[in-house]
Amino acid sequence: MIRQRPIERPPMLSKPDEPQAANAGPVHIELRPQAQHAVDAPAKLRARDVSVFYGDKQALFDVSLDVPERAVTALIGPSGCGKSTFLRCINRMNDTIPTAKVSGRIELDGEDVNDRSIDPVLLRARVGMVFQKPNPFPKSIFENVAYGPRIHGIATGKRELEHVVETSLKRAGLWNEVADRLHQPGTSLSGGQQQRLVIARAIAVNPEVILMDEPCSALDPIATARVEELIDELREEYCIVIVTHSMAQAARVSQKTAFFHLGKLIEAGNTDEIFTNPRDSRTQDYITGRFG
Ligand SMILES: Nc1ncnc2c1ncn2[C@@H]1O[C@H](COP(=O)(O)OP(=O)(O)OP(=O)(O)O)[C@@H](O)[C@H]1O
Ligand SMILES: [Mg+2]
Repeated sequence: MIRQRPIERPPMLSKPDEPQAANAGPVHIELRPQAQHAVDAPAKLRARDVSVFYGDKQALFDVSLDVPERAVTALIGPSGCGKSTFLRCINRMNDTIPTAKVSGRIELDGEDVNDRSIDPVLLRARVGMVFQKPNPFPKSIFENVAYGPRIHGIATGKRELEHVVETSLKRAGLWNEVADRLHQPGTSLSGGQQQRLVIARAIAVNPEVILMDEPCSALDPIATARVEELIDELREEYCIVIVTHSMAQAARVSQKTAFFHLGKLIEAGNTDEIFTNPRDSRTQDYITGRFG
């Protein structure tokens, strides 16, 4: 039941910049060589005319976007432009905000995620989420990872659970650092380790999509590099959508980039095209640090 296969680690092409530094001025963007292949991959997610209101205020306007399978899609744009709102539509986290009203259609493998037959709890196991601030449960490292597989019936017996925990921690690149302290609290780990722990927690329930909302913005450059490397490995198996304020990070980790501005999707395409030859002047201005 647990997917396990060795992952080759491509070398990172450049070191991460300081978190949030990307909009301070023009940045040198180093693109990954495989970027061109991404947009040709089949779409795992299709958003069509997605609009979101919070009460009377419209936060997203008719967003249509295809998100490719086995690739990283970066959502970029100035603060308040609707990136997190869009991300939350994908796994129906906006359902938990009483004033939020979502219209339009989001398909996961052709299935409407808002269909009445879809159980949001199961959807959120298929579409995992990692937040800006690592949020381990107030439980042990082991329990943080074992909880999901246990409640979803993915692993039940002690041995099975131990296997899932070990596999997930290995895939999240954390096993070697925690193998001898699995029963210590998850909160006892460093920020970068906690972020890898919550990624392990998301992986443990065999998700298809992993949503990451500024997963590195609370991390130092070394922890950021480690998480970026992990994202690059996970992309071989998952559809990943990452929100980032760092242009350099978007260029390093993503194959597709979508630029949002004032609640609208301005343009989306291969990351190298967006960064080297954007069609819209607002994209150009944003990626060169003229606003944001
Ligand atoms: N729970 C909420 N209730 C009311 N308005 C909200 C809520 N969440 C977001 N908004 C509004 O919706 C708009 C889009 O917000 P969102 O958080 O999606 O932006 P963002 O692009 O993720 O910004 P940031 O880069 O700062 O995280 C903003 O105007 C914001 O104030
Ligand atoms: Mg946000």
